[in-house]
Amino acid sequence: MNWTHKDLLDVESLSIDEIRHIFHTSSRFIEINSRSIKKVPILKGKSVVLFFAEPSTRTKTSFDMAAKRLSADSFSLATTGSSLQKGESLRDTVLTLEAMKPDAIVMRHSLSGSAQFIARHLKCSVINAGDGWHAHPTQALLDGFTLSRVWGDDYQGKQILILGDIAHSRVARSDIKLFTKLGCHVRICAPRTLLPVTVREWPVKVYSDLYQACQGVDAVISLRLQLERQKAGLLPGIREYAERFCLGKRHLESAAPGVKIMHPGPMNRGVEISSDLADSKDSLILDQVESGVAVRMALLFIYLARSMQQQELSEA
Ligand code: CP
Repeated sequence: MNWTHKDLLDVESLSIDEIRHIFHTSSRFIEINSRSIKKVPILKGKSVVLFFAEPSTRTKTSFDMAAKRLSADSFSLATTGSSLQKGESLRDTVLTLEAMKPDAIVMRHSLSGSAQFIARHLKCSVINAGDGWHAHPTQALLDGFTLSRVWGDDYQGKQILILGDIAHSRVARSDIKLFTKLGCHVRICAPRTLLPVTVREWPVKVYSDLYQACQGVDAVISLRLQLERQKAGLLPGIREYAERFCLGKRHLESAAPGVKIMHPGPMNRGVEISSDLADSKDSLILDQVESGVAVRMALLFIYLARSMQQQELSEA
């Protein structure tokens, strides 16, 4: 496939064929990641800056691992220890990073729209690793890829429930776009105070009762309560929230057989999801992490090697 995009800012700009190409490439890297020697030389000489101005375990580590497994050099920058702390602007920080000639900057930042902003100023590829409440495209792609490993290409008409703090979630926004594009029906379930004001314009069915929301669903994605983004007073308390919205086995009795359980992490057991469900045979939570490395290898490969022959992958 001739890849024309310089940046990955959200899933909106990707066609269904491009999403399927990312999944197909990711499945090649899943295979490479299962070998005893996991390093291949296909991005030798390329370099990636991981600029994470917000905390991350999964996204940052998997991008770092992805770059190293493809033999690219990766360099990390966080707010702590950088000149952002001395008042340097975001624009000046990324222009400084680009002057060092990386091939891509992977950025996470608390400001919605920050990835779009820097992409306008930079010639190198920008991969959005999460911007404020706006988008988390690589999470959506790894969620889609994780389900494709179970369902194959058979997404059409599947019922997907996204549960929890929808209002503050960039994962929810990107997942809804991706799964709708793939032909799924998306439901959301949350307390009214954790729904966005524009929810009526979203292509989703809204529930406030978790038992009803789970009827006939094929997959449930439970979300973290984003307390760091919430204003005070949105919830009566964590315990009251958990009583109504903590996903447990009892909610899934009327779900589709083999319903899959997901959570982007980090998860709060007993608040967003019960421990027994998180660890159950139908839980894909650790599969999501495994898929995350492969999807990020695929994305680095696709965005950094746009001009290189795909043949190199088949020879790796
Ligand atoms: N899902 C996710 O983005 O996790 P991290 O915050 O650990 O990267």
